[in-house]
Amino acid sequence: MARDITRRHFLNAGAGVAATATGAWMSRSAQGEESVAGDSDQLKIVAVSCSPRRGMTTSTGLQIALEAAQEVAPERIEVELVDLGGLSIPGAPAANIALQPGEKDDFPEVAAKLAVPNLAGLLVGTPVYFASMSYLCKAFLDRCGMFRRADFALSGKVGGVLAVGGVRSGGQELAIGSIFPILMCQEMVLVGEGRPTGHFGARLWNRDDDILADEFGVSTAQALGRRVAEVCLERAANAR
Ligand SMILES: Cc1cc2nc3c(=O)[nH]c(=O)nc-3n(C[C@H](O)[C@H](O)[C@H](O)COP(=O)(O)O)c2cc1C
Repeated sequence: MARDITRRHFLNAGAGVAATATGAWMSRSAQGEESVAGDSDQLKIVAVSCSPRRGMTTSTGLQIALEAAQEVAPERIEVELVDLGGLSIPGAPAANIALQPGEKDDFPEVAAKLAVPNLAGLLVGTPVYFASMSYLCKAFLDRCGMFRRADFALSGKVGGVLAVGGVRSGGQELAIGSIFPILMCQEMVLVGEGRPTGHFGARLWNRDDDILADEFGVSTAQALGRRVAEVCLERAANAR
């Protein structure tokens, strides 16, 4: 049975995502199969940086991952970094609580970037905040509940997670592990960074805000980007 996403889903979710994005979003075939690549051959991978510090190490780590993802198939893979730093992403609307009068909400614009028909992969990047994700990351992921309510619109998208801590073993794995179950609730397909290290995602150590100094961490970010891209391509090939 074909399941159409309508503008109502967004309005009910309090998100108000641009109708232009929703019209084309998640087109499904007559057999009810979700089209992974949409109408084009291009596969889009979006990375969302959930540090309140715009353009800092989480953002740079994701940029590195996206560059590696694009190198896998430059003609097929399209990438975009969405930096939540400096944006206002209130969490309360996720619990159906209205915004305060005059309160700014940048989530609808962010959601519209995920609501593109050729979205194939989503990278979530967070700084480690006391061994877990940042408050901004939790607010973002809670607000993404609207995709779940909109007929599991992120179902089948490939998900990978990157975490940056202020020390080597400061809880990067715990932060990654705090995000995985949330992505599972969206029916996303989760991957780690694959070979050669083959663990849970990208784990970086911020030394004096110079993430490039962490050679090992950078290598996990690159591996994660490659792995997400490879699985996106595999899934698109299988969907043909
Ligand atoms: C509230 C808070 C809690 C933090 N807790 C941890 C922690 O548990 N483990 C850790 O390694 N780093 C911790 N850090 C350091 C940040 O994870 C680290 O500086 C990170 O690189 C920040 O990312 P950004 O450069 O993208 O902002 C914490 C920082 C803040 C502000």
